[in-house]
Amino acid sequence: MTSPELRLVPARPEHVDMWKALREEPVSRRLVPMESSSRESLLARLQEATHDLSHPTATNFRWMVEWDGRLIGTVAARELSRFHGRVEIGYMLSSGFHGQGLGTRAVAGVVARLFEAWPFLHRVWLITAEDNLASQALARKLGFTHEGLMRGHYLVEGRRKDQQVWGLLRPEWEARRAHLTFPFARMHDPAHG
Ligand SMILES: CC(C)(COP(=O)(O)OP(=O)(O)OC[C@H]1O[C@@H](n2cnc3c(N)ncnc32)[C@H](O)[C@@H]1OP(=O)(O)O)[C@@H](O)C(=O)NCCC(=O)NCCS
Repeated sequence: MTSPELRLVPARPEHVDMWKALREEPVSRRLVPMESSSRESLLARLQEATHDLSHPTATNFRWMVEWDGRLIGTVAARELSRFHGRVEIGYMLSSGFHGQGLGTRAVAGVVARLFEAWPFLHRVWLITAEDNLASQALARKLGFTHEGLMRGHYLVEGRRKDQQVWGLLRPEWEARRAHLTFPFARMHDPAHG
């Protein structure tokens, strides 16, 4: 029996309700410092994002994570600076699929493609909540370094919390990648079958 396939598919406007529901799951609300967003604003973000890494001017990219034919999460790369060679990533999986290694495989698939596709890319970074141990473990596993703390940076359920900054430089990724033995999620572009 073959194991189910983990794919990164282009995020499209029709994913808006799935994405909204994902953001509203209790675990996401507790651990991800997000402001609540209307369906319209999420739709606008989906319309604005692309999956095309060869686009000459795009700065925001998003994929949905598909596991065994079901959409289970999303990974984004945002505020790409071609001048500075850096991009921020974010990720979120539905809670029924946490803790099986799928998040790490999905984010690894995106990070690998970003470094491959963009020779100018030097730094991938992310922010995560101080109590988001799964996200921190994922980052550590992919070779990110915990670089700093933004104190009192966000509010979750009325409580002010600190936010961590993590970064991964190209040589660190190249060294780390050589030791990662799990299968990365594969990017699937329907335009190319
Ligand atoms: C963060 C998230 C993407 C991680 O994905 P996942 O598939 O659940 O994580 P994985 O199974 O790949 O595990 C990654 C690491 O975290 C560890 N981990 C998982 N859940 C954990 C938990 N609750 N506490 C501590 N460590 C945990 C795993 O053991 C693994 O480390 P290891 O390989 O060294 O053992 C997922 O939990 C999620 O979407 N959470 C809600 C949204 C969110 O927090 N997004 C990130 C915002 S920065």
